[in-house]
Amino acid sequence: MNSPVIQGINLNAPSYVKNARLIAWVADMVALTKPDAIYWCDGSEQEYQRLCQQLVDAGTFKRLNPAKRPNSFLACSDPSDVARVEDRTYICSELKENAGPTNNWMAPADMRALLQTGKDGEKALFDGCMKGRTMYVVPFSMGPLGSHIAHIGIELSDSPYVAVNQRIMTRMGKAVYDVLGVNGAFVPCVHTVGAPLHAGQADVKWPCNKTKYIVHYPETREIWSYGSGYGGNALLGKKCFALRIASNMGRDQGWLAEHMLILGVTNPLGKKYHVAAAFPSACGKTNFSMLVPPEAGFAGWKVTTIGDDIAWVKPHADGKMYAINPEAGYFGVAPGTNMHTNPNCMRSLDKNVIFTNVALTDDGDVWWEGMEKDGGGLPNHLIDWQGKDWTPAIAKETGAKAAHPNSRFTVAATNNPALDPEWDNPNGVAIDAFIFGGRRSTTVPLVTEARTWMEGVYMAATMGSETTAAAVGQMGVVRRDPFAMLPFCGYNMSDYFQHWLDMEHKLEETGHTLPKIFCVNWFRKGDDGKFVWPGYGDNMRVLKWIIDRVEGTAAGTPTGFGIAPAYAEINWTGLDFSQAQFDSVTSLDKGAWAQEFALHSELFTQLAYHLPKELVAIKAQFEKSLTR
Ligand code: GTP
Ligand code: SPV
Ligand code: MN
Repeated sequence: MNSPVIQGINLNAPSYVKNARLIAWVADMVALTKPDAIYWCDGSEQEYQRLCQQLVDAGTFKRLNPAKRPNSFLACSDPSDVARVEDRTYICSELKENAGPTNNWMAPADMRALLQTGKDGEKALFDGCMKGRTMYVVPFSMGPLGSHIAHIGIELSDSPYVAVNQRIMTRMGKAVYDVLGVNGAFVPCVHTVGAPLHAGQADVKWPCNKTKYIVHYPETREIWSYGSGYGGNALLGKKCFALRIASNMGRDQGWLAEHMLILGVTNPLGKKYHVAAAFPSACGKTNFSMLVPPEAGFAGWKVTTIGDDIAWVKPHADGKMYAINPEAGYFGVAPGTNMHTNPNCMRSLDKNVIFTNVALTDDGDVWWEGMEKDGGGLPNHLIDWQGKDWTPAIAKETGAKAAHPNSRFTVAATNNPALDPEWDNPNGVAIDAFIFGGRRSTTVPLVTEARTWMEGVYMAATMGSETTAAAVGQMGVVRRDPFAMLPFCGYNMSDYFQHWLDMEHKLEETGHTLPKIFCVNWFRKGDDGKFVWPGYGDNMRVLKWIIDRVEGTAAGTPTGFGIAPAYAEINWTGLDFSQAQFDSVTSLDKGAWAQEFALHSELFTQLAYHLPKELVAIKAQFEKSLTR
């Protein structure tokens, strides 16, 4: 047993913590990071309330008007800490080739010197990084507790904001230790805002550090995060664990960790299908997963949410692929969300929500761009996400946004009125179709179906999308985002393509039926610069065609880029959408596709190491049919 006292801190874990490796690791991390205190989270409601009140007292949280938004809080971050930092995110595999050309890499020994041990007289970043703060021990399960698909993580963080968000986003608390037991495995996650406090020094509302490192060791399955308190940089169960580390687990163990929503869709006869869809960050996953079908023409159709961001997918002995949502809450984009675009989401936000970087109304409620469409128009006055006065006149003059474009809400899945009854099923749901989609104002059609698994893998692998506010950097630039996993694949991207291709043979050998693969694009723009496709609930029209294809009741038309719907195969009841408009979101322009294939070639050059040959062959076929 380790000494129970280090630097004056009593390390005695609560009696229900029995995992020897965990206790030893916490002792080591206390010795390294030197917090003033340690707190073992139990995940209880009382604890949540206490920590939220503590955040209010510290000025990090503002309690919203309980009459308008019960038990809800607003946090506004440091203006420099508002999104994922992809250029500060590292995959530290032993060999550089295993991180691949799309990830930042540093040798594990060098990274450990920088973060943990120090080198050449330089102090390590984590050495003393929690001074003056409390270390929270946050036990969490990604996936239903005890599910054979789930995995456990323990996050050590000096941010109470992280502790309360993790309670919403994951199955967090005491019960995790029962599953973990004495010898169970967990992914160790160390997080610090990187802002130690000296004696007598006052804290700031949102501590963070200019220097940031989001680090993954895929071989030892560890996560180390320094300097940021925001979203995917700090809530380590999400992108760091459930995608970057889990993609490595999936490759080794024969399953998939994907940046996908999961939804159930039930037809008027009561038959239910399940679809998993990968769209890049801020490209519509949360919205699609909560879709409300149009009133006209879709009586009896129902969409239910299993997950809104991440899917773990495993082949099962019954011949199907089953998916679980490893998360338990939504960390969703606020701007653009309103009663027209996403009523289920708006209802989910009635109470028990943590908002980050949205605006504050004069009556103590929240506001963001897009809410004006709910009837009230623009508010006369707000406090914007940076604490400044906002009025419609100021906005008009300066273009200032009341809410940050990547402002978000954290809310429990159980708040969602469209939550699927199977969402917590430890066995997951059987997937009938995979959908891939980017944000493309030109070139890519509304929907097509891959004729084969391999064609689908090609379409997903070469997907492009315009960048969004979800990551720090320039917005609106088209970049390749294979499988919507560019920032999240924890190993060499070409090996990941191979893993997807191998699924076909593995599953066919065992008599599995593979889900069909589709490509969508909600974001084609007209000459006026506006989206042509109405999107949101009207995406049901495309989803129904996809289900018709799964059922074999829609014929489809072969095109140069897969099978597409004929105009007459889409249910247009209640929507005025002409053949000409349809053509403008489905047309395949030869010139644009010639440029597109040049970008595919560039990607394949970058990914040449281990690039599956099949993909090069498929490219030649597509190119022939699309550009000649
Ligand atoms: P992450 O949480 O970053 O992974 O994002 P996400 O993929 O869940 O995207 P989300 O559903 O939050 O949507 C992001 C933005 O795209 C919001 O501003 C939405 O209003 C907008 N959006 C979503 N679906 C559609 C659509 O069908 N059409 C259009 N035009 N915009 C959409
Ligand atoms: C994304 O960027 O895809 C998100 C938000 O879902 S974050 O949690 O910051 O990764
Ligand atoms: Mn996401």
